[in-house]
Amino acid sequence: MRRLVSETRLHPADLVLPVFVREGVTEPVPIGSMPGVVQHSLDSLPAAIAEAAAVGVGGVMLFGVPESRDALGSGATDPDGILNVATRVAREAAGDALVVQTDLCLDEFTDHGHCGVLDDEGRVDNDATLERYTAMALEQARAGSQLLGLSGMMDGQTAAVRQALDDGGYQDVALLAYAAKYASAFYGPFRDAVESQLEGDRRTYQLDPGNRREGVREAMLDIDEGADIVMVKPAGSYLDVLADVAAASDVPVWAYQVSGEYAMIEAAAAHGWIDRGRAIVESVRGIRRAGADVVLTYWATELAGWLKGGLE
Ligand code: PBG
Repeated sequence: MRRLVSETRLHPADLVLPVFVREGVTEPVPIGSMPGVVQHSLDSLPAAIAEAAAVGVGGVMLFGVPESRDALGSGATDPDGILNVATRVAREAAGDALVVQTDLCLDEFTDHGHCGVLDDEGRVDNDATLERYTAMALEQARAGSQLLGLSGMMDGQTAAVRQALDDGGYQDVALLAYAAKYASAFYGPFRDAVESQLEGDRRTYQLDPGNRREGVREAMLDIDEGADIVMVKPAGSYLDVLADVAAASDVPVWAYQVSGEYAMIEAAAAHGWIDRGRAIVESVRGIRRAGADVVLTYWATELAGWLKGGLE
C-alpha cells in the first residue's frame, strides 16, 4: 500500500554522477574528505562510466584536476587540457548509454582558485570572465560534451555561452545553468577533491544563504538567457529555494547534493551514528520531493544499483 500511494519515486535515470579526473596519474587517488570517492585517472575513467551506465545512471558530470594552473585558467581552453581529454574518453566509454556533461568554470584551472579572472585589484572581473567561458564552452563542445554545467555564477554567462555555441555551430549542445548557487560551507570537501588553491571566498558572486527570492530570480534570469535546465545548489539546506524554483520554472530543475552533504552522512555512518543506506535514500528522496527532477549525487552509481535491485 505504501508503494502504491508513494508520491515520490527514485529512478536511476534521475541521478547524475559527478566524476573527478586528475591529470598525470595512472591510478585513482582517494579523496580524504570524501570516503569512497576518488580522483580518477584517464585510465580508470572508462570503467567508472561503464559501471554507472550499467545501472542506468542518467549522466556524468566531469570535473578536471589539472597538473598546473595559471591566472587565466589556460588549461580550461586547451584542447589537450585534462577536462577536454577526459570528455573525449568519457564519450567513447559512454556511447549512447548516458549523457556526458562538463563543469564549465575556471576555478579548477586558476592558480588563485576563483571561478573567473581577476582585475588589477584582485577582484573577479565578470565580463572578462565571460570571454574565458565562451572559449571554454567551445572547447568542451568540440570535445563532445553534451551538456555544459555553468557553475561560475557570473552575470550573463548563460546568454554569452548560448550565443557562442550557436555561432560556432553547436546548437545541439545544451546548457545546465547553476542558477541558484549559494556561497556554501558545504563545498569544503569538493575543494579538497579539486585541490583548490582558493584564498578568501566566493561571496562576491555566489548567493547569500539567507536569500530565497533571489534564488528564484537568478533561475528566471537564466531561463530567459536560454538555460535548458536550471540547478539549485547545494540541495539539502536549500529545499525551500528548490521548491520555489520548481514551481516557477518551465524547464527541468535539478539539484546538486554537494560534497559536504555527502561527507556528513558518510562520516556519521562511519561512526555508527546513522543508518547509511536509509540516510542516503532519504536525503535524495527529500530533494526529489522538494521539486528536483534530477539529483547530482556522489552516490549515483551505488544508489542506482540499489534501485535496480528493487528498492524504490
Ligand atoms: C565550481 C564548482 C564547485 C562545486 C561544483 N562546481 C565548487 C565551488 O563553487 O567552490 C562544488 C560541488 C561540491 O561541493 O560537491 N567549479
